[in-house]
Order: sequence, then C-alpha cells, then structure tokens
Amino acid sequence: MRTSVKNLLKSATALDSVELAGWVRTRRDSKDFSFMELNDGSCLKGIQVIIDSGTPGSGEIGKMNTGASVKVAGELVESPGKGQSWEVRATEVELMGGVPDDFPLQKKGHTPEFLRSIAHLRPRTNLYGATFRMRSRLAYAVHRFFNERDFTYVHTPVITASDCEGAGEMFQVTTNDAGKAEEDFFGKKSYLTVSGQLEAETFACALSNVYTFGPTFRAENSNTSRHASEFWMIEPEMAFCNLEGDMDLAEEFIQFLVKDVLDNNEGDLEIFAKFVDKGLLQRLERLVGGGFERMSYTEAVEKLIGSGKSFDYPVEWGINLQSEHERYLCEEVVKGPLTVYNYPKSIKPFYMRANDDGKTVTAMDVLVPGVGEIIGGSQREERYDLLKAEMEANDLNLENYGWYLDLRKYGTVPHAGFGAGFERLLMYVTGMQNIRDVIPFSRTPGNCEF
Ligand code: 4AD
Ligand code: MG
Repeated sequence: MRTSVKNLLKSATALDSVELAGWVRTRRDSKDFSFMELNDGSCLKGIQVIIDSGTPGSGEIGKMNTGASVKVAGELVESPGKGQSWEVRATEVELMGGVPDDFPLQKKGHTPEFLRSIAHLRPRTNLYGATFRMRSRLAYAVHRFFNERDFTYVHTPVITASDCEGAGEMFQVTTNDAGKAEEDFFGKKSYLTVSGQLEAETFACALSNVYTFGPTFRAENSNTSRHASEFWMIEPEMAFCNLEGDMDLAEEFIQFLVKDVLDNNEGDLEIFAKFVDKGLLQRLERLVGGGFERMSYTEAVEKLIGSGKSFDYPVEWGINLQSEHERYLCEEVVKGPLTVYNYPKSIKPFYMRANDDGKTVTAMDVLVPGVGEIIGGSQREERYDLLKAEMEANDLNLENYGWYLDLRKYGTVPHAGFGAGFERLLMYVTGMQNIRDVIPFSRTPGNCEF
C-alpha cells in the first residue's frame, strides 16, 4: 500500500515498512549512499529518501535524475536533518520512468511565460503544484459555504440559446457552420454559455436558494491578465432577496473562502507569501478581520473626480468603471475591499431591477485590491411589464426568452444573485498576477494549446 508524502510527513510515529512513489526533485550521491528528494504532489514538501549503495534496485540510481519517477519501499525514521521530521531509509528502489537530458524543469527560476508553454509539466513545480492544490481546496470551500447555508447546487447547461449578458460575446456551437440555423444540430443557433444565471433563476423561483458552479465562456477579445475565454463562475441565486441581502452574501462568501484558505492550506500559502506576494498573509487576515466598505456608483464617481488624478480613461457619471478606476478606489480610497452598487442602467444588462430614480439599476460589484472586480451581481427585475419592455428595448427575441419572462408571470418574487469569477478569487488568495497561471490550461484569444 502506497502512502502519500503528505501523510508520511504527518506521521505520528516511525514506521517499519512504508511504500511511496513520486518524482525525483534532487539527488545527491556520496560514496556509500544517495539522498533523494521525492515529491508526489500531495503537498508542497518532498520527503528525503536515503538509499545505501547495496539496496536492491539501486544499480539504476544513476538514472534517477530530476524528473524521473521512482518507487520506494523502506522504513520511516526520524530525520536528523533540521526542518524535516521524517525521512525514508530505502530497502528497495525501482526506477519507473527515466528522463532524458532535455527535461525542461531541471533548473529553478523559469518565467511564467515559459511555464505556460509547458503547461503539461508545470504542475510538477512547487509554485504550480501549490496553485492547483489551492484551486481544488477553494472549490471544496465554495461547496461547503453553500451547503452549510442550505443552498441547492444546480447544474445549469453549458450549451444554450440565450445570451445572458447581452454583450454578444458568445462562442457559437455548430456542426454545420455554413448552413442555415434551422438545419443546424439544435435547429437554431446555439452557443457556449456566458453565465448560468438565467437558468439558475428558474431554480431559485422553485427551490429558493440555489447556486451553480461551472465553466463559462466569453469570446471577448481582451488580452489582459484578468480575462480568460474559458473561466469558472460561481453563481448563487436567491428568491425573496434584495440588493442588500445580495451584497451581504457576497461579502460573507469572500470572507468565508479566505478564512478557509488561511485555515486549511497545508503549507501551500507559504510559497505564495515568500515568492509571489510578501504582503499576502496580512492582506488576507485583514479581510477576514475587517469589513467591506460600500459606496454607490455615484459616490464612487465623485471620489474619482475629486481625487484630481488623471486616469487613462476619463471619468464622468455614466462610464463603465475601468480596472484603473476600480483599483484606485479600493487601493487608494478605501484601502481594502469595496462594494459599489446602483450603477447606471445604460451600462448594465437587461435583467437588472430598475431603481425609482429612472437612471440606475440595483447592480453591485465587489472590488478587491490587486485584482479589481471579483464579483458582479444584482437584484433582478421581477416586474413583468418592466422586464418585457427592457427586453424589447434590447432587441431580445421574446420567443427565445419566453420561459424567462414566465418566471414573472407565474408567482413572481423579488430575487437576487451574483457571479464570482473563480480564477479571480484564486488570484486574490494566492497573489498570482495572471489568470493564465491559476487555470490548468488557459484559453485566451489566439491560444488554445493542449
Ligand atoms: O460581471 P459578470 O459578467 O456577471 C455575470 O455574468 C452575471 N450574470 C453574474 C450573476 O449575476 N449571476 O461576471 C461575473 C464575474 C466577474 O465579476 C468576474 O469575476 C468574472 O465573473 N469574469 C471573468 N473572469 C475571467 N475572465 C473573464 N473574461 C471574465 N468575465 C467575468
Ligand atoms: Mg461585471
């Protein structure tokens, strides 16, 4: 029975007989024995294996180079070396797969750009191993958060005929790209979803509190460090909830995730704090301890104009806040996380509930230092006539969206929800600067490798 390196390092006692397997990180030979650091990805650390020259299998020790896969049987003993509790004295070793000299990860200190070009091998580095373990734990924390609050997990479709955000940034799904839409696979134009919200709303209007968590796609030609063409989104939707309740949940959600990461990271946070972002732990602890500031869009615009700072994109009431504005607001004005609400109607999608002022809608964005927008949400327009008028004004085909309007026809209720970008959350909790480095295989304009 193979034991993971993580469990070996956590062992409470010495063990007479253990088996482990992994990839060689480093090896050092002396006359009578070799020291090998073996990592199996179960945790950041590797374990030291000591192999006497007479050990069965050690005849191939010369081939157990960095990157090779090796199986070891032996004894778990206390390590005399400092900083390490346990090591393995091998009684048998086996080379599983050797490595030719061109193994790209021999040396340390590769650039993120280079590592993206070998995304099939980068999980074997300390930093990326830690990133993807964090990703997995964060996903688990997301489910725990909603589960503890009795939200039902709904699997909304990946292929859809509706454009939730109305921005026309959809990838078409077709088996017949030259033919007529009616002759295509689904008998009409269909796309990869940009958001599961509209379908989640149907379930909220039945099960009250629901969430969806899955891949979403945007054919948006923006080559930034925060945009990906394929990304994962978490979207709760709550019946009998208004904008206030929506903002409360969004803030509580982020605090829960950050606390979970601080409590359960198995040592992985260390590497980000050391090599990626020195202020990471303080920033995360401050978020868990403190609250979120809130300000209306109108106040935010006043603050930006009042700052006297000249932005690349000039500020006036009615603009879409750009990342430079969002970052200035949370990094300089409030010096922490910030929720902005009540945005101009003209820059937001059709489904947001209109405020009485006739100019704004009940939208909200949660902004965090370093990343900017991490969550976007709103209260939804639950009034049939107002929603229908808005859909018509946006040229939506009412035949395609009749089901959405039905929710307002049959037992309509106030409801609200939000979408949290999973990769942006991961960037925030790790300090990683580029979205391409927190998703296993990134898809961005012009890039679909692997
Ligand atoms: O603000 P967005 O576009 O909102 C929606 O899609 C709503 N339907 C959500 C809802 O209310 N249920 O996207 C939500 C979040 C953003 O705040 C951002 O974190 C992330 O999704 N996001 C992206 N992440 C990576 N790459 C992209 N291209 C992204 N676009 C949005
Ligand atoms: Mg948004």
